[in-house]
Amino acid sequence: MKGILYYFSGTGNTKWVADRFKEKFQLYNVDIDLAYIQSLEERKIKKYDFIIIGFPVHWKLPPKIVTNFLNRLNNTKENTRVIVYSTQGASSSSASCFVAGCLKKKGYVPSIQISIKMPNNFYFFIGKKYNESEIENLLVSVDKKITNIVESFIKGRIVKESNSLIRLQFSKVLNNVFKGRVPKLSRNISSTKDCVKCGLCLRNCPQGNITFENGHAVFHSKCILCLRCIHICPINAIRYRGKKIDQTQKDIIQVLDLNK
Ligand SMILES: Cc1cc2nc3c(=O)[nH]c(=O)nc-3n(C[C@H](O)[C@H](O)[C@H](O)COP(=O)(O)O)c2cc1C
Repeated sequence: MKGILYYFSGTGNTKWVADRFKEKFQLYNVDIDLAYIQSLEERKIKKYDFIIIGFPVHWKLPPKIVTNFLNRLNNTKENTRVIVYSTQGASSSSASCFVAGCLKKKGYVPSIQISIKMPNNFYFFIGKKYNESEIENLLVSVDKKITNIVESFIKGRIVKESNSLIRLQFSKVLNNVFKGRVPKLSRNISSTKDCVKCGLCLRNCPQGNITFENGHAVFHSKCILCLRCIHICPINAIRYRGKKIDQTQKDIIQVLDLNK
């Protein structure tokens, strides 16, 4: 058996979980290829027995980069099984229910639909900030959860978390309100004169939204607020609303395949 895992990850959480999936499936001699969500090729998908899709929750639902992927996906008659997981700061989310619904309409069979609580990378806007030991404990429990999920999948069990349609409707309403505010909120990102022009943020912005002008990084209008630039800057020179941010993702972000 062979699977492909499509993911988007702004600051490493979703990729960290993707790596765990790969590791746990290997224990059953099942190979998982990891693929960036923008690299969808229909021809390639047909070679796999099952698909895994992972993404962070942005304003209750998946980011646009993920809904674009879903829109591009062709219908299938193969009954291909899918594992859908979201990562988010809260204990649960209906985002995986949303994605599973889209996949079902296309003929896929979402057999696992879960939400995984990970460190909140946007704690300076909403929610709780985790300290180092809380992050460590969280990762241990997530590791266990993936072990159980992979076992369930191998045994053909169905797992569907956060399946409430009322909650999903509520999430859609909130998402509509907040996603309209992204252009305005992203204007809160700026760099200080301490910027050493190393180019790490520029090379790794998933939107190609950063350039250097007048000696420091400038952020343009394509930002999706993934926050990679803030958490990745080696000298922490990127500000949100002029404030210095504690880079709580600075270790976990290293799991991304970064352009160093
Ligand atoms: C713009 C934005 C919106 C977010 N909205 C939510 C949310 O609605 N609910 C939640 O629990 N976490 C929310 N988060 C936190 C992230 O979902 C969480 O930290 C996620 O694991 C980040 O994954 P990544 O590191 O793979 O990008 C949000 C983060 C960002 C950047």
